Amino acid sequence: MDKVKVGILGLGRWGMCHLETFSALGQAEVVAICDSSPERLARAGREYGVKELYANADDLLQHEDIDLISVVTFESQHLAPTLKALQSGKHVLVEKPVTTKPAEARDMQAAAAASGKLLLPGHLLRFDPRYAAIKEATAAGGRVGEPVSMFMKRAREQFLFETFKRVHTVFELMIHDIDLAIWYAGCRVTKVKAYGKSFSGNSTPEVLWANLEFENGAIAVLQSSWMTPDAVGVEIADAIEVIGRNGIAHFETSNSGLQMWDGSGRLTPDTNIHAKLHGQTVGSLREQLTYICRCLVKGEAPSVISFDDAVHGIEVADAIVASCGSGLEIALGEAALR
Ligand SMILES: NC(=O)c1ccc[n+]([C@@H]2O[C@H](COP(=O)([O-])OP(=O)(O)OC[C@H]3O[C@@H](n4cnc5c(N)ncnc54)[C@H](O)[C@@H]3O)[C@@H](O)[C@H]2O)c1
Repeated sequence: MDKVKVGILGLGRWGMCHLETFSALGQAEVVAICDSSPERLARAGREYGVKELYANADDLLQHEDIDLISVVTFESQHLAPTLKALQSGKHVLVEKPVTTKPAEARDMQAAAAASGKLLLPGHLLRFDPRYAAIKEATAAGGRVGEPVSMFMKRAREQFLFETFKRVHTVFELMIHDIDLAIWYAGCRVTKVKAYGKSFSGNSTPEVLWANLEFENGAIAVLQSSWMTPDAVGVEIADAIEVIGRNGIAHFETSNSGLQMWDGSGRLTPDTNIHAKLHGQTVGSLREQLTYICRCLVKGEAPSVISFDDAVHGIEVADAIVASCGSGLEIALGEAALR
């Protein structure tokens, strides 16, 4: 295979980023796209010169000449298209959260094993050079060494909550940090205690805290919120500190990134996840999609990406929701049975 033939399901905010990025890669060709909105579909087809446009997911998923399907639809609706794509012989990149239910995550895992195809979770922070450098430093003998304590914060602007309250905050924001914490610790979570606060009376909390304990004794505190005032102009206000046996790694995005000040206030745009450089797409999404295409073209199993970790991440997220609801500490075995 010289080029990976890609089909994209879902052309919303993030699906368009997949389309833009795949279209810019030398090792990929977007052959077909699908969205249930005819206007969105037509516009995306025109803009990126994609000829095969489908309004119905099954038509895309049964297409014979596609190697990889990107599932970029609503968070709670990834199961059916993922199973169908695997069953019709395609590799699948499924966006985070891979699902919102542990049983569904395990069904996806079993379907991938039965199909012999790759099932790749869209945890793109493993492709952000800063988070990846921390992972490298946590190796035995590294500058940080085995992690004993992790703190991770993820904060987004308030206006986004109107859209993303459609799913619990753990699945939209904290799932990134759950994946990073599992990756860094290199083992499973045993216990979870979480706190969620909604100020607007929503069932989805605007502020979420979770304490995790790992099999190897490491502990983590994760904090996610939709509380950055829009007027502040900070798109991403994230932070991390990993304390290891040999040293500490940390960074914080709200003051360390690019800032622009003008009469309307301050803007701190994201330049790491998906941005433009001289008209070209750059960022972790591009690194992730490049890596996936390279693995497929070379026929190599991806070592940076783990669907097993993604399944465990959904079990942890489920336990966090349960702990927020009950106020109790949850042992992971209990949550995994839900
Ligand atoms: N990795 C990241 O950093 C990152 C960033 C943003 C979003 N995401 C994830 O990407 C996914 C999509 O998020 P979004 O913000 O683009 O959502 P969105 O609401 O903007 O877009 C979803 C799109 O899917 C389409 N769709 C839904 N069901 C469909 C179906 N059955 N058939 C055809 N089209 C269908 C909708 O019409 C819509 O255009 C979510 O899982 C989200 O969590 C990941």
